[in-house]
Amino acid sequence: MDLKIAVLPGDGIGPEISEQGVAVMNAVCEKFGHKVSYQYALCGAEAIDKVGDPFPEETFKVCMEADAVLFSAVGDPRFDNDPTAKVRPEQGLLAMRKKLGLFANIRPVETFDCLIHKSPLKDELVRGADFICIRELTGGMYFGEKYQDNDKAYDTNAYTRPEIERILKVAFEYAMRRRKHLTVVDKANVLASSRLWRQVAKEMAVQYPEVETDYMFVDNAAMRMIQDPRFFDVMVTENTFGDILTDEGSCITGSMGLLPSASTGEHTPVFEPIHGSWPQAKGLNIANPLAQILSVAMLFEYFNLKEEGALIRKAVNASLDANVRTPEIQVEGGARYGTIQVGQWIVDYIKKA
Ligand code: IPM
Ligand code: MN
Repeated sequence: MDLKIAVLPGDGIGPEISEQGVAVMNAVCEKFGHKVSYQYALCGAEAIDKVGDPFPEETFKVCMEADAVLFSAVGDPRFDNDPTAKVRPEQGLLAMRKKLGLFANIRPVETFDCLIHKSPLKDELVRGADFICIRELTGGMYFGEKYQDNDKAYDTNAYTRPEIERILKVAFEYAMRRRKHLTVVDKANVLASSRLWRQVAKEMAVQYPEVETDYMFVDNAAMRMIQDPRFFDVMVTENTFGDILTDEGSCITGSMGLLPSASTGEHTPVFEPIHGSWPQAKGLNIANPLAQILSVAMLFEYFNLKEEGALIRKAVNASLDANVRTPEIQVEGGARYGTIQVGQWIVDYIKKA
């Protein structure tokens, strides 16, 4: 297959992990005979510095013309500490989501047996937890009408029926391919927007009789995720709740640096690690490239290239088993591997496989 990839390395550790993602992609394409080409484009703080816009028109064009986007991270402390900043790197991410119509954000929460001890939860609670959070990504409070003056401010949590239907369809279909258990997370006891979500979900559930669908308030879901994470198979929720719950999800596995994500919708899909730009680690060769590398696995799987995805997953597991790990997950007394060395080890594994 011919693959045209837009690469958006972004800020902080973004460029370093991006390099490893691309190296792995090359190795897999070579092995399986796919032709791949890359177009690099600016985003985030780097794009603000260079052209004054965190998601420039040129980058949008590159994304639209590609088959997939390999995204790394955006964010820079120069902007976080400046409440008067008019443009922020994160706006680039939001603009990308909106302009590419990426309404479905797929965030798998998977555990790696050899890293369970890193989880803040008890081993027996978290071992075997494996669920997917499907977060609506282009609606709700993030994009609703906003107002702010010195005495009053508000954000609007608006959702239309078509917006709810299309994300729920993605969720029901994921559930059908997995353990057929869907949890719709909302705040229907308080919010009108949630009541519409629940109403639409109940109407749609009839079309998926094999799926066991349950409904859970978001506060309860936050609790259940740490009390009994294995309860969940597929969870679907609105933008803001999904933002919060997926951070919780990523840390209960003990391996935030290992979790990839996919955002799909109307135009080119985007594959990215769920962690941020970790500016303090920039240039130190310590960032974990695995979430980015697993994003490449998700990219292949999106195009139904299952063997390619499986080989990457196998290589990642082998690197963990061989204790070829970046410092934050290295075992005591284990050798020192940097971003580059972990990436290289995985590339070599793929080449030899
Ligand atoms: C995420 C991030 C973004 C979000 C920020 C960086 C705007 O936290 O992808 O979860 O809130 O969606
Ligand atoms: Mn977030």
